[in-house]
Amino acid sequence: MSSQIRWSSTSTWEEQLLSVRELTVHYGGYLALSEVSLEVGHREIVCVMGANGSGKSTLLNAVSGLVESSGEILFEGRLLQDVPTYERLALGLAHVLERRRLFPFLTVSENLLLGAYLPSMRSARAQSLERVESLFPILRDRRRQLAHSLSGGEQQQVAIARALMGNPRFLMLDEPFLGLSPKMVAEISRVIQSINQDGVTVLFNEQSVQQSLGLSDRGYILESGRVALAGASAELLADRRLHSIYMGLAGA
Ligand SMILES: Nc1ncnc2c1ncn2[C@@H]1O[C@H](COP(=O)(O)OP(=O)(O)OP(=O)(O)O)[C@@H](O)[C@H]1O
Ligand SMILES: [Mg+2]
Repeated sequence: MSSQIRWSSTSTWEEQLLSVRELTVHYGGYLALSEVSLEVGHREIVCVMGANGSGKSTLLNAVSGLVESSGEILFEGRLLQDVPTYERLALGLAHVLERRRLFPFLTVSENLLLGAYLPSMRSARAQSLERVESLFPILRDRRRQLAHSLSGGEQQQVAIARALMGNPRFLMLDEPFLGLSPKMVAEISRVIQSINQDGVTVLFNEQSVQQSLGLSDRGYILESGRVALAGASAELLADRRLHSIYMGLAGA
């Protein structure tokens, strides 16, 4: 139905931190992503939007190596597909998975420390903990509380803080605002902007158009595993095609 429109960049590939080219993912016989191309420049905030099942999580999971893909994923020009997931972490890539995936019966501190388990990250653990607790002050008060007893918004803060414990240069977030109150959405948005200003490049996915495009520099809209629309966030917000693709989901 929709025509595939690719964002055409005037920048060179060297300026991109992440370049995804013609990425295709199958689950058995099911085609979940079809020739998706996407770029994320150094220090950008980029969002991927789309309805349920459009392939948003699959895209992030392919970038972190949790699902197999064909096509190319380049991180600073280096082909990632042959790099195991744990080594992608060591390259500076972090991923907050869908539904947060905390260890429910570990404390907040224990969950956070697990975010810096790689040998290369361990020596800086105390400093990293200090840094993430100053980004999310509530986590300092909740250090000894079991993760499952936190509210959804607090759990999301722990999940993001855990990903930041490895001091990544590139952070991927899978639906960071899902189920959160407007106050908590504002809090998480503030932290994303703050770490971005400190030099962290961000790629996140969301269903809510307003929240996503308000925060990001550029956006991509997925429809049935393909890029249906892409562009600068301000332009996308004004684009009638966005609203027709979403058929009423826009602004939800
Ligand atoms: N492990 C899997 N095995 C088979 N099919 C899968 C698997 N994971 C995802 N899919 C299918 O691939 C498609 C894309 O799923 P994906 O989770 O990437 O979508 P999404 O855009 O993240 O959706 P949501 O907004 O619900 O999180 C869906 O049709 C889904 O059912
Ligand atoms: Mg998903």
